[in-house]
Amino acid sequence: MRHTGQQPARDLERGRATTPAGAPGAPASSATSPVTSPVTSPVTSPASSLARYLAVRRRSVALCAPLTVEDQLVQPMADASPSKWHLAHTSWFFEAFVLGLVGEASFDPAFGFLFNSYYEAAGPRVARARRGLLSRPSLARVLAYREAVDAQVQAALTAGALDDAARTRLELGLAHEEQHQELLLTDIKVVLGTQPLLPAYRAELPRPVNLGERHPASRWRAFEGGVIEVGAPAAGFAFDNERPRHRALVPPFALATRPVCNREVLAFIADGGYRDPRHWLSDGWHAVQAQQWTAPMYWELSPGSDGGAQLYELAGVRPVDPDEPACHLSYYEADALARWAGARLPTEQEWELAAAALAPDRGNFADDDRLHPAAAAPGADPGELAQLFGDVWEWTSSSYSPYPGFRTLGGALGEYNGKFMSGQQVLRGGSCLTPRGHVRASYRNFFPPAARWQMTGVRLATDR
Ligand SMILES: [Fe+2]
Repeated sequence: MRHTGQQPARDLERGRATTPAGAPGAPASSATSPVTSPVTSPVTSPASSLARYLAVRRRSVALCAPLTVEDQLVQPMADASPSKWHLAHTSWFFEAFVLGLVGEASFDPAFGFLFNSYYEAAGPRVARARRGLLSRPSLARVLAYREAVDAQVQAALTAGALDDAARTRLELGLAHEEQHQELLLTDIKVVLGTQPLLPAYRAELPRPVNLGERHPASRWRAFEGGVIEVGAPAAGFAFDNERPRHRALVPPFALATRPVCNREVLAFIADGGYRDPRHWLSDGWHAVQAQQWTAPMYWELSPGSDGGAQLYELAGVRPVDPDEPACHLSYYEADALARWAGARLPTEQEWELAAAALAPDRGNFADDDRLHPAAAAPGADPGELAQLFGDVWEWTSSSYSPYPGFRTLGGALGEYNGKFMSGQQVLRGGSCLTPRGHVRASYRNFFPPAARWQMTGVRLATDR
C-alpha cells in the first residue's frame, strides 16, 4: 500500500515512517517486558484463546490462497508490503512478544532483522521499501515459520505456560494480525491493480446490485452534543490510543445518514472539483497537482464523459456504481468534497457520539466476502444512520493525537501506536476489508492525509 508520498499508520504499516536498514541481529530485550500500562485487559480462558488464535492465523493464510507465489513478493510502492512479508511479520510478532523467543532461541535468528517492522527497541531491520526484494526466505519457509510459531503458541496455551501479561500480549497479537489481514487485502489490491492486465484477486466476488430509485437520499441526523465521554472503558480489549476514557465538549451538530457515494464524486468531478483550488487545502491542492489526481484511486475516467467511469476492484474492472460509497479517497479529497458540498468532515468525538449506540459488528465487513463497499440499502427509517461501521473508513477532521492522560504499553510494544501521533488524521468505523468484530465505537485508525490505498471514504457533517 502506499506510496506516493504517503505513509501509513501502525506497523501496520500504516503510517509509520520508513525505517532505516540495519544489520542482522537479535532483537534487544522487551520481548518479555511486562505490560505496565492498563491499555489492554483481555484474558479469556486458554481454550477460547487458542480457538481464536487458530482461527485468526488460518484466515491470514487463506487470504493468500488466490495468489501466486510471485504475487506474494511484489511491492509496488513502499507502503504496500508483500503478502509474504505480512505472513512472516505477524508470526514474528507472536514469537518475539508473546513467546519471548528472540535471537538464537527463535525459529531463525535472522528473522528478527527481516520481519521486525518498526520497533526500534527490538533491533535493526530491513527498510520498509526493500521488503519486496526479499526473495529469500522462500514462501514455503515462511509458511513453515508460521506453523512452527503456531505449534509453540498452542503448546504454551495448552500447558498454561502463558501468564496474564503474555496472554494480554496474545490478544494484542491477534488484533495486530487482524489489522494486517486488512493490509493484506489493500496491498494485494495495489499489487494486482498495478499489473498491466489488471487481474482480479477473486473474479467470483459478488457484484453490486443496482438499487436505482431505491437508493436512499442522504439526510441530516441531528445531535444535541454536550459534555460527553469518549474513549474505551478501562475493562476489555482496546488499543492504548483509545484510552483513557475522558470527557469532551461537543457542540450541536448533524451527521449525514450515509457516506458520500460515487454519484456525488462524479458530480464533483463534472463540476471541475479536481481543477478548482478553492475547494482544497493548500497541501491537498499541491498533492492534486503533483500526483495529477483527477478521480479516486483505481478509477479510469472516459474522456469527455461523467458517467463512463470504470474502477478496479478485487473482482476486476467494472463500471463505477453511482450508489456505492466512494472509496480510496485521501483526506485531502474527503475535505475538498465536503467543502464543495457546503459541509465539513466530522470530528472524531462527533463520530464516536453517533456510533456509541450502534452495534459495531453490523455492517459490510470482510466476513461478508464482498470486499468492496456496498450501496446503502433502503431502511425503514430514512433518518437512521447507515453504514457507520463497515464499508469505508471515514476520515475525520481530528488529527491523530494522544488523549489526555495517554500512556503507552511498556517495553517495545510502547511503539505500537503512540510514536505515530503526528502528521496523521483519525479515521473511524472499519471497512469492507476489516474483520467483523475488530472495530468498536472508540477505535481510532490513522493515516497520513495523502494516503489513498486504504478503503477510505467520507461522511459529511455540519454545524447546527
Ligand atoms: Fe505489524
